[in-house]
Amino acid sequence: MGSAGGRNASTPFKLDHWLSKARFATPPILYDLAASTGPKWTVRELLALGEGASLDDTILGYSSPEGSRPLRDAIGAFLGVDPDWVVITLGASEAFSILLCTAARTGANVVLPHPGYPAFDPVAGVWGLDVRHVRLSREHGFRQRAEDVLKAVDDRTAVALVNTPQNPAGTVMPREEIETLAAALHRKGASLIVDEVYHPLYFGEQQVSAAAIPNVNVMGDMSKALSLAGLRLGWLVERDPKRREQMIDARGYFTISSSPLLERLAVHAFANREVLLSRLHAVASENLAVLSDFMERASDVLGWAGPEGGTVCFPWFLDGRDSRPFCEALAANGVPVAPGDCFGKPEHMRLGFALLKREKFFEGLAIFERVLREQ
Ligand SMILES: Cc1ncc(COP(=O)(O)O)c(C=O)c1O
Repeated sequence: MGSAGGRNASTPFKLDHWLSKARFATPPILYDLAASTGPKWTVRELLALGEGASLDDTILGYSSPEGSRPLRDAIGAFLGVDPDWVVITLGASEAFSILLCTAARTGANVVLPHPGYPAFDPVAGVWGLDVRHVRLSREHGFRQRAEDVLKAVDDRTAVALVNTPQNPAGTVMPREEIETLAAALHRKGASLIVDEVYHPLYFGEQQVSAAAIPNVNVMGDMSKALSLAGLRLGWLVERDPKRREQMIDARGYFTISSSPLLERLAVHAFANREVLLSRLHAVASENLAVLSDFMERASDVLGWAGPEGGTVCFPWFLDGRDSRPFCEALAANGVPVAPGDCFGKPEHMRLGFALLKREKFFEGLAIFERVLREQ
């Protein structure tokens, strides 16, 4: 635990650089094991689901700053909360910015998991918040524990964040523990953000969204569990009307609104959400079985904590070597995996297992194994 100052918008976004190289390569990469998204959908495939969506009469003006009524209704139903509490954002990325900028005050800090999604620290710096880290340890299976978060909180803490299922470790924080944490933070004058972008992708016990827990702001998106990152839509949940008003204003200042066309596509996606969610669940759990076998075979070289949810895991070299040279060699063989230094943990690597169909995933892992043995 401790302060992690100095990161801001000029901090290189190493993970994004690496992912973009893989995503936009020519010729296309066949075995992308770096991405944290699910199986791809085209607009045609999406529109072919259910009754289809009529987009033709969409007026290409601005949408409302809080997001369209039908989309807020769909998300309210998805999370089990009053749809009025839902504010639409440009991905969870914008939700995070809004939550931090409305919480920021002089000298305040935010408590964040380490390792975590690498945009969190720089964005906190942009909003003038000091960062205090909760170190997720191998010893505790990379679990986010309420007691560790509370140890990192001090009298300047405005907000703490947990991410469940977690990127990059794939751990899940049980709902009761989130409730305990949210109540304890309330007593200390701080609020809790629960980043649920991978909800409801769980491999063990299914979890209910944390959106209805008092003193919690949930953020989520269309990118991960719904596998539609290209819609660039997300949300935050705030039950207090006055605070929500500030957040909607911040949203208006930043981006005015989302695209009404993309909001309509998102409403259509929610109308067919069981298809999208079950396809992701099927791909992720089939691949996870293949991956578990592989990790067993590679256990002389690699350690790992099997993910409990989400689309990624975070294996490490047992001898502590920097994974980047291996990741470079792997990428040169057409199988990108994200180097651990993108997360400040060089001996690790982040491996995504929900993008490719089973056969392709299997082939990609075979190349991984060959390159691993050649090292
Ligand atoms: C944990 C986590 N939160 C938030 C985001 C932001 O995603 P988006 O802006 O696509 O919703 C990501 C993206 O990878 C993520 O992994």
